Amino acid sequence: MHFSYILSTLIASASLVIAVPAADSTVHVDSSLRLIKTSELDPGTWVTEEEKIVEYVAKNINFIDVTDITNATTLARLSTPPSELVARAAAVTYPSTLTHQTQANAIIAQLSQTKPKSWLTTLTNYYNRYYRSTYGTQAGAWLLSEIKTVASTNPAIVVSTFTHSYSQPSIIVKIPGTSSNLIIVGAHYDSTGGSSTAKGPGADDNGSGVVTQMEALRVLANAKFAPKNTIELHFYSGEEGGLLGSADVFKSYSSAGKTVLAMVCQDMTGYSPSGKVSVYTDYSDAGLLAYVRKCVTAYTGLAYTSDSCGYGCSDHASAYSNGFPTTYVCDEPIRTSSPYIHSPQDTYATISFDAVLRHSKFTVGFLVEASYI
Ligand SMILES: *[C@@H]1O[C@H](CO)[C@@H](O)[C@H](O)[C@H]1NC(C)=O
Ligand SMILES: *[C@@H]1O[C@H](CO)[C@@H](O)[C@H](O)[C@H]1NC(C)=O
Repeated sequence: MHFSYILSTLIASASLVIAVPAADSTVHVDSSLRLIKTSELDPGTWVTEEEKIVEYVAKNINFIDVTDITNATTLARLSTPPSELVARAAAVTYPSTLTHQTQANAIIAQLSQTKPKSWLTTLTNYYNRYYRSTYGTQAGAWLLSEIKTVASTNPAIVVSTFTHSYSQPSIIVKIPGTSSNLIIVGAHYDSTGGSSTAKGPGADDNGSGVVTQMEALRVLANAKFAPKNTIELHFYSGEEGGLLGSADVFKSYSSAGKTVLAMVCQDMTGYSPSGKVSVYTDYSDAGLLAYVRKCVTAYTGLAYTSDSCGYGCSDHASAYSNGFPTTYVCDEPIRTSSPYIHSPQDTYATISFDAVLRHSKFTVGFLVEASYI
């Protein structure tokens, strides 16, 4: 209650808001504590790193770690229900038809399941990819090296790391366009098994999203695809710690004044009893949502399903809180999604590579189409 008052008062003031996380010294006694929010109206709770995983992630309670978020506009968006937000002045207008299917389908024809199987084997063989563990750092180093190899068939592609306050970096792949406006797809590569020390193979969550994007990168690089808008593929760290990696990346893009035309988050792409791609509707830009649905239908040849996943459910929430248009594409509605995530049972054996391939087709189709927006 006390903190609720401080937070809501300070949000009104940009100059004071920087003091929010440290302001209440009676609560914030331990500098290692982190402030997390589970909804817009939740004033926030100070927890340890271990509590985040054991009391929230393992119990599938979504949250956002707001400790290091200082931008008053971003904090206000994190505390305002979407229904009460005023629409952005200059929303992006997305095309009403898809016009580059011949070009996209020629690249899609090169997709296969071979590399995704091999990459997911390596990723799930790490004991876990927890963002504060040595395994998580090792997994990041392997991923960086493998992504560089995949991208090397097109020397125009730039692979870089984005460092954070913890050791596991995010990885950003840029396919430069003639315009600096950005089309982004993102998935997180960290994982957890339900505590900092538990085995966490993270096959569906979210090794699957990672290898989906790597396979899309492989065929786009081989095709020397040269976009109009700049394409970025993001591989975030620290998602399970409350969207830490993506929060830093989009904070930086916001303060640098970058123009993001679309950000599509794609976590969990490998477990799909329905056999259809699901497009989630909450925290989504309405125009982008409609456009992404068109791309799903055209490039997977199948209808889409829909669901919503609540506050802070994945990295698109970081794009959203920084005011960028975003949506979230998943392998299944929540009710029928993988029962194994955030546990040692989220293994390679549970993964459908048909589902992974379906998402790679969508990813390539979407990136080719959106690169012309
Ligand atoms: C804070 O975020 C807003 C949009 O989310 C952005 O326009 C502004 O430049 C940011 N301020 C700073 C100081 O980065
Ligand atoms: C992958 O990441 C998020 C966060 O854990 C999680 O909610 C989901 O379980 C997995 N996929 C998603 C959504 O990101």
